[in-house]
Amino acid sequence: MVQFTLPKNSKIRTGKTWPKPAGANVRKFQIYRWTPDDGENPRVDTYFVDMDSCGPMVLDALIKIKNEIDPTLTFRRSCREGICGSCAMNIDGINTLACIYGLDEVKGDVKIYPLPHMPVIKDLIPDLTHFYAQHASIMPWLETKTNRPAKEWRQSIGDRAKLDGLYECVMCACCSTSCPSYWWNSDKYLGPAALLHAYRWIIDSRDEATPERLDDLEDPFKLYRCHTIMNCAKTCPKGLNPAKAIAEIKKMMVERVV
Ligand code: SF4
Ligand code: SF4
Ligand code: FES
Repeated sequence: MVQFTLPKNSKIRTGKTWPKPAGANVRKFQIYRWTPDDGENPRVDTYFVDMDSCGPMVLDALIKIKNEIDPTLTFRRSCREGICGSCAMNIDGINTLACIYGLDEVKGDVKIYPLPHMPVIKDLIPDLTHFYAQHASIMPWLETKTNRPAKEWRQSIGDRAKLDGLYECVMCACCSTSCPSYWWNSDKYLGPAALLHAYRWIIDSRDEATPERLDDLEDPFKLYRCHTIMNCAKTCPKGLNPAKAIAEIKKMMVERVV
């Protein structure tokens, strides 16, 4: 796993330290807080959680803090099993999903920040509007030209297998927000998540828009800002490899012009 050092932000204040409960198995959590409502700079609040009455995952601790200590703490979550992608955040310097990241994987204090290099809506919630718009731009659906079959668009077992390692993406944005190229050029570079999805549809044997999809990506920024730094593959909590998908698209670009 790659660890990201968050840029030192002198504007981040030391926030409130909440009371420490009695008990031998208490852990310290340092959590980024910011709200647009008070005009204040961000702060880091300190909480203490009795691990004897807490579940094993980072999300369990966050829910316990919200339920029992500070109801104003704000974060996204839904499925609590690594499927919805909504609980992505930076834990101990790693972009990951809080619901499948074990507290035993964190040594010492648990430091939790929102995904890096994204605008923050509140506390641990990044604004993913632009990220989702980029996903929509790659046409994440089956595009066909021939007449609709009577029953279904069929696919061989072998062609279906080509989608393995791609369809599992939960659009959590951990990869894109770990990518230095995306940090600096996210206005024009699509980033690893959107490009992984682009490849997923390019190689789908049922799709009939491959030339148009490749044409759209033939752009100095949309695709070619990937410099194979590999942070994306190292951090993906689903074990996927967006860098490989990007390399495959680049290969297809070369093969179609020679
Ligand atoms: S391999 Fe490409 S997409 Fe992945 S982190 Fe590096 S530059 Fe970003
Ligand atoms: S490739 Fe992995 S890290 Fe990137 S959005 Fe999909 S699941 Fe998340
Ligand atoms: S709550 Fe759905 S992925 Fe974590």
